[in-house]
Formats: sequence, C-alpha cells, structure tokens
Amino acid sequence: MNTQQNILRVFHQKFGHAPTHLARAPGRVNLLGEHVDYNDGLVLPAAIDRATYVAFSPTDTPHTSLFAADFVDQVFFTPTNLSAKLQSDNSPLPDWAKYPAGVAWALTEKNMPVKNMQAVFASDVPRGAGLSSSASVELAFALAWMTLGGWKLSPMELALTCQRAENKYVGVNCGIMDQFASACGEKNKLLLLDCRSLEYQTLPLPKDVAIVIADTSVRRELTNSAYNDRRAACEEALNILKKHLPDIKSLRDVSVIDFNRLAKRLPAQIEKRARHVVEEIERTSRAVTLLQNGDTAGFGKLMNDCHASLRDLYEVSVPELDVMARLAQSLPGCYGARLTGAGFGGCVASLVARGQAEAFAKNLADGYESETRLQPEIYICEASDGAGLIL
Ligand code: GLA
Repeated sequence: MNTQQNILRVFHQKFGHAPTHLARAPGRVNLLGEHVDYNDGLVLPAAIDRATYVAFSPTDTPHTSLFAADFVDQVFFTPTNLSAKLQSDNSPLPDWAKYPAGVAWALTEKNMPVKNMQAVFASDVPRGAGLSSSASVELAFALAWMTLGGWKLSPMELALTCQRAENKYVGVNCGIMDQFASACGEKNKLLLLDCRSLEYQTLPLPKDVAIVIADTSVRRELTNSAYNDRRAACEEALNILKKHLPDIKSLRDVSVIDFNRLAKRLPAQIEKRARHVVEEIERTSRAVTLLQNGDTAGFGKLMNDCHASLRDLYEVSVPELDVMARLAQSLPGCYGARLTGAGFGGCVASLVARGQAEAFAKNLADGYESETRLQPEIYICEASDGAGLIL
C-alpha cells in the first residue's frame, strides 16, 4: 500500500469517515546552486516524485486534531493560538508538530483565517536526507488550510509563509529554495530561481537523462548549528568585503574577479566559505547556459566541481557522501554527481544517461555497500509538479 492509500485508510479509522480532501507536496532535489539561496544567488532545483500527503476534513470541534501516521502520534491544538507552542491541554507540541503548527501560526500572523480540521499525514520523503521533507510537510499543510479557509495565496507566497514558519517558529534559519521548489515544481522541469528577485523560470530536463538519487543512509546531528555557522561566515565575509566594495548588498554582488583581488583580506576559513558562494553563483549561471545549449556533459562537469567545492571549501560533506559521489562520477553513463541539499549526510544526486540509469543505480549501490558496509537507498527520480490537491 502506498503512502497516499495508507493515510486514507488511517483517516477513516481515526475519524470514522472519509476525508473531504487530500493534499500533496513534494520534496526536492537541487542540481546546482548549493548554499547560495541565503546569499541572493541562483538555484536550480526540481520537485521530486516523493511527497508528503495530508488527508483532511473541516470540523466543528474547537481544536484541530492531527495524527502523524509516520510517528504514530496525535496532537490537538487551536490553530489561532499557537505562539506558546502548546497543545489544547497545555502540553508542549512535539517536534514533528511544530512544522504544521508553525504554518498555522505564520498564516494567522498574515491574517489568513486558519480553520480547525481533522487531519492525518505521512510522507515518503526520507527525513534528514537533504530532500526537503520539512518543506514538503509545510507546503502540504499550507495548502490544506488554504483549501478550508477560502482565501488564496500564490505558490510563491505560500512558500514564503512556510519559510517564515520554519525560520521563526521551528527555529531553522533556512533560505527559500526548498519551500519554493515544493510549491512551484513542474513535471519534467528544472526550476531556475533568482533568490534575490524571486523571479523564476522552468527549464526542460536534458533529453534522455535521468536524475538518480542515492541516499547514503548517513544522518548527522548538529546540522542546524553547522548550517548557521556557514550563514554567519557569509555575513562576516560580506561585512569585510563591503569596506572595499561599498555597493554590495550580498555575496551575489561580488564577481569572481573582485573576489580574487580581495580574498587575502579575509581570514582563511571565511575566505574558503565565501569563495564557494561566489564561485557557485557564477557556476550556476554558466551551467544554465550549457543546459540551454544542450551541453549535458559540460553541465555534469560543473556538478562535479560543485561537489569538490562543497567538500573542500564549504566543508559540508562527510566521507560517505564523498565515497558515493566519487563512485557515481566514475560509472558509465554518469554526466555528473554531487551531494544535494545542506550536506552533513543525506543524498548524492547524479545526472545519468537514461538508458544506463538502472545499471548505474545497481552498480552504485553495490560499490557503496562494499566500500562502506552501509546499505544505501538508490532510486531513479522523476521531476514532479509542486504542491496540489489530489482530492
Ligand atoms: C537547506 C536549506 C536551503 C538551502 C540548502 C543549501 O536545504 O533549507 O534553504 O540553503 O540547505 O543549499
């Protein structure tokens, strides 16, 4: 039984009737532009065919009852009274519930009416794997509340509201990429987002190419604090560079040439972090031109360069991600491979000739398992539509 069928069944068990609606919001994979969204850069993600599903119905009860099928846990809360992060009986919200509750809180702050509902949700986006399981939960609930509330926000506005929930309510200082991709994904398309203007366009995936996602099965603690450290390093670099380039507003405004000229003014570690960002933004815009010219090999090479930069300059890789990326890059049919998402564990995304994708996945799994003794999960993914109602 798939995730969707399962929550419909669980909803019936819990509430004694079928849900009126079913919302779906996908995770994402990012092909280029890593750790640049919070520096106003360019990102190139796609929504994937793994998603969070929420089955829901309106209710007259004075609270929302929300059952998490993946955690086998239920909470009751009043969506318009969530600032203390408490349930209706004043017990604290468990961590998993802070994502939907945060969305209700952010919508209420925005004066969007948030109605009570009965809901069951579950996800087949692996948690903590760099595929934006949190954003998919947030977007699925934003859509559910929008459906019941009778108001309308654009997908980008929903994404921004969910980002605010994650920043201010959950307490993770993420950029906009994940929520954007979950909200605005399109089947078979890559999304090119300018994180400064929030303008975006879709680009077709290269012909005869598959995206293969390889989960190392490694999860790291402290991802949040390491992520915040990287953000702080970017701020520090910006403040120093501003003394020499007074017009810059973010690292997006620093050219590679200017950066090379001024690099020695930065403390060594800050220089490495900022170099990744400045070069990655430039790399992403070059990659887009290659993609538009049909140069998949050139594009893949830039993915490999991105992995090296995340490993050596931004230092967000881990040995298992390096093993996976190295093995992937060496296999027939692979154009490029790199860690995707924040890093510190999670997945490698590879661009592979479609006809060779199955053999690639098998050989990659075998090679990884024999080098690390860890069991990876590898699958060929399809770029999918963004958040939407199924029922
Ligand atoms: C996480 C964050 C995103 C982005 C990536 C790194 O996924 O949620 O905003 O910063 O890391 O590119």
